[in-house]
Amino acid sequence: MKTVFRVGLALLMLFHAAAHAQMSGPAPDVGAGQRRAAVCFACHNLNGVARIPGVPNLAGQQRDYLESALHAYRDGQTRQNPTMNAMAKPLSDRDISNIAAYFSLQSRTSNGSNASQMAQVSDQTQQAAMVRVSATTEDTLTVGKRVFGSSCFACHASGAAGAPKMGDHAAWSARIAQGNATLLQHALHGFNAMPPKGGCTTCSNDDIQAAIAYMSAMSR
Ligand code: HEC
Ligand code: HEC
Repeated sequence: MKTVFRVGLALLMLFHAAAHAQMSGPAPDVGAGQRRAAVCFACHNLNGVARIPGVPNLAGQQRDYLESALHAYRDGQTRQNPTMNAMAKPLSDRDISNIAAYFSLQSRTSNGSNASQMAQVSDQTQQAAMVRVSATTEDTLTVGKRVFGSSCFACHASGAAGAPKMGDHAAWSARIAQGNATLLQHALHGFNAMPPKGGCTTCSNDDIQAAIAYMSAMSR
């Protein structure tokens, strides 16, 4: 009688452990989350402390909360926001778990000294330097290439979030046909999942124009 009880209890515990493991899935891969989140940095910044007004901070938020928010955006019904619905759509469950783990581990304060914040500072320094350079005599395509490399590549190098991929003639020809004024307006003020100025708040209008000229030239 006693043995039967013990075996039953052991089985129950085993079942419980298995069910639990299945529910929580494999441990999230924070490094993979950071890589997958490259397209998010344009608005949420490298460490999740938003760089654009109206974009919420992700740094230090509960992992479970971030996961459920991303599931809610991905299904397109529970939480409706055109930008975030587009951003979440291509994410797998595993991506969501990795990205949520990554942002939940970032520090919320801006005076800390962790690696992400250092990177954020050097990113801003780089952008400021870039803007200074663009004020000098460098030609448009050189400036454009630099702006592309610091801001636009996050989406336009891979085609993330449905962005027309640089070098993809088919993806660009219809857009180029709209005329430069339209392209510039869309790039400056945002267009669906394309954030205003591609998220580069320190870029001048001329910088953005140069980046468009560069991407167009490379995609003709
Ligand atoms: C173009 C700018 C932009 C990009 C790129 C972007 N987001 Fe967002 N994100 C927003 C905005 C704006 C909101 C607020 C939307 C709302 O009101 O629901 C938001 C909200 C969120 C929230 C909800 C936060 C909260 O406090 O409820 C999460 C989580 C999130 N984004 C994650 C991501 C992830 C992960 C990526 C990359 C795959 C990403 N975002 C890319 C602009 C962006
Ligand atoms: C967070 C991702 C993201 C970043 C960063 C980004 N883009 Fe885009 N971009 C998009 C997406 C998505 C589209 C397609 C939007 C659509 O047609 O619905 C797009 C479209 C465009 C278009 C075409 C607009 C049109 O009218 O067809 C231009 C021009 C453009 N981006 C310029 C830029 C420039 C310049 C930068 C860098 C300064 C940049 N983008 C950075 C996502 C991004």
